[in-house]
Amino acid sequence: MKKLNVAVLFGGRSPEHEVSLTSAAGVLGSMDKSRFEPVMIGISKGGGWYCYDGPLERITDGTWQGQARPAVLSQSPERKVLYVLPDMREINIDVMFPVLHGRNGEDGTVQALAELADIPLAGCGVLASALAMDKERAHRLAASAGIAVPRSVTVTSPNTPVKGLEPPLFVKPLRAGSSFGISRVADMRELPAAVELALKYDTTAIIEEEIPGFEVGCAVMGNDELITGIPDEIEISGGFFDFEEKYTLKTSEIHLPARVSADKLVEIQETAKKIYRALGCRVLARVDMFLTPEGRLVFNEVNTVPGFTPHSRFPSMMRAAGFGFGDVVTRAIELAVER
Ligand SMILES: Nc1ncnc2c1ncn2[C@@H]1O[C@H](COP(=O)(O)OP(=O)(O)O)[C@@H](O)[C@H]1O
Ligand SMILES: [Mg+2]
Repeated sequence: MKKLNVAVLFGGRSPEHEVSLTSAAGVLGSMDKSRFEPVMIGISKGGGWYCYDGPLERITDGTWQGQARPAVLSQSPERKVLYVLPDMREINIDVMFPVLHGRNGEDGTVQALAELADIPLAGCGVLASALAMDKERAHRLAASAGIAVPRSVTVTSPNTPVKGLEPPLFVKPLRAGSSFGISRVADMRELPAAVELALKYDTTAIIEEEIPGFEVGCAVMGNDELITGIPDEIEISGGFFDFEEKYTLKTSEIHLPARVSADKLVEIQETAKKIYRALGCRVLARVDMFLTPEGRLVFNEVNTVPGFTPHSRFPSMMRAAGFGFGDVVTRAIELAVER
């Protein structure tokens, strides 16, 4: 059987560029090379596209560009190829696997290129990606599927008066990730500065009521038929799951499985699937929720390109359900080509 050429996209213009590099190394390191031929496409912080063919270490240490050539992906379904400069060498692309987090990578923009070229996508399509990235529109869709969501408002200026919400509040860029630009506001006087910070990452900020309890997550994979991983739980001692905590776990701890009853685990999985369907997700996504002290599940967000390092939550949740990292990558590619 002919090997499938899988374009793995990494880097990108979002503040999560470095996170993407580690995730991509995770995906590339676990890919079954007897069935798939990776085509490594690096996107610089400035947005330039390059074809890379060096070792994984140079991706993670950020020096990959020294061994890469400028490249252009054809948007034409008649030529599903990557052109590599300067001689316009053509590399066929059978599947696109975007391992890009945040803006321009997880928000439907890159996904649109694959859809234009009719290249199967190992991930969510344009609409689901864009909806999941937009925290307020994702809330609305989850709510329409009967899921509880935090009360929230959106603002575009630090001076907009906010009514109907009491602190503690969470202020976030509407479309970002890795906790960039997020603050917890305990006193209304801190609100304008928090909004100003969020607006450094996006033109709109969302202000949400704080949901007490802890955060739980669930890995979901599939198109029509869905499978789930074992839900996990994030235990935080003070503060919230900010960028530093996510990558150092200094004061927080991830419990897998989440420390809840067997029934609750199933309820988390079923709720995650409902949200996945409400947003129209395909292939894979990680669905994050809060579990309140009363045992109520409240939607937080959907990550359509979750972290993919070997220690990341998505692969860990799938591993606990019996699927190794390699199986997850294989399944994602199989789900991409299954139409
Ligand atoms: N409404 C909320 N109530 C309680 N904690 C929140 C709320 N919103 C966010 N948080 C905390 O902030 C963290 C990051 O917020 P999140 O919406 O998941 O953004 P990101 O897309 O950057 O991961 C969450 O993991 C959680 O610890
Ligand atoms: Mg999050």
